[in-house]
Amino acid sequence: MADRVFSGIQPTSGIHLGNYLGAIRNWVTMQESYDCIYCIVDLHALTVVHDAREMLSNTREVAAALLASGIDPKRSVLFVQSNVAAHTQLAWIFNCITPMGWLNKMTQFKEKAGKDREGAVTGLFDYPVLMAADILAYRATHVPVGDDQKQHLELARNIAGMFNRKFAVDYFTLPEPMILGEATRVMSLRDGTKKMSKSDPSEQSRLNLVDDADTIAQKIRRAKSDSLPGVTYDPASRPEASNLLTIYAALSNRPRAEVEVELESSPFSDFKSRLADLAVAKLSPIAAEMRRISADPGYIDQILREGAERADAIAAPILREVEGLVGFLRP
Ligand code: TRP
Repeated sequence: MADRVFSGIQPTSGIHLGNYLGAIRNWVTMQESYDCIYCIVDLHALTVVHDAREMLSNTREVAAALLASGIDPKRSVLFVQSNVAAHTQLAWIFNCITPMGWLNKMTQFKEKAGKDREGAVTGLFDYPVLMAADILAYRATHVPVGDDQKQHLELARNIAGMFNRKFAVDYFTLPEPMILGEATRVMSLRDGTKKMSKSDPSEQSRLNLVDDADTIAQKIRRAKSDSLPGVTYDPASRPEASNLLTIYAALSNRPRAEVEVELESSPFSDFKSRLADLAVAKLSPIAAEMRRISADPGYIDQILREGAERADAIAAPILREVEGLVGFLRP
């Protein structure tokens, strides 16, 4: 079977540099070597977003960010999860073969549920089963994931194996993780020990993908630095310098080691103005494109409609086969 990449992104507002360098940029590159299916996972987001307007606008915002960053909807399949029925239908079948004990081990559930386990919604507990269904509905072979999703991918592999054993078939191949390249971890511009996050109360902590040139330059100029000489990579003692250096290397598409040599004796202020120029050059065209696309929601919806049709054309026949394998009557 040909290689097929599947990945998902939650529709959240405030897509930032961490999302871009950590995932989106790699999705764009992968289009050159794989058939890619990219899914905006609104069903997963429904575990936390309970506001219709917010859900809709987040979904379009993420679609605009992906398109502006270079996801090509002709080449790749770009669609919204709830538009393709196979995801929830396959998830139910997987629910019926997945032991609760497996889900009880998921660290993300424990983190998200916090102390109030009894109050956590069922969908949050079941989240990894739906994620397995996302991947296996397309019999994807490769799944690019960050560190935080490795355990869920492992679960998807276990569910695929469980299905094959239970029904004595060799139907699902186990999807392989693709570990994303360097700079997967972009840290806060205010505190180099914390991940860049949309939930950080300080706007100064992150570069949003929609930020204009002035905002980008200003945030980098005000980013936290230290007073040691030069700019060196040493996350333990210089978290902020290391983070900015990592961002610089990632945005210039160069290995970190090479950039380190160049910057080791550079005054911090010079480095910051170079980083600001680079970030503006790389990110402000994306921001402009994102604003252009967002101004035309009809265009976004049209692309997502076509994407859903193409996704459904792949997933529906697979679901039919699975239903046959479990013995559902199809008169
Ligand atoms: N859970 C993933 C995240 O939060 C998103 C996701 C949903 C996903 N379904 C997926 C990622 C399938 C990879 C494959 O990042």
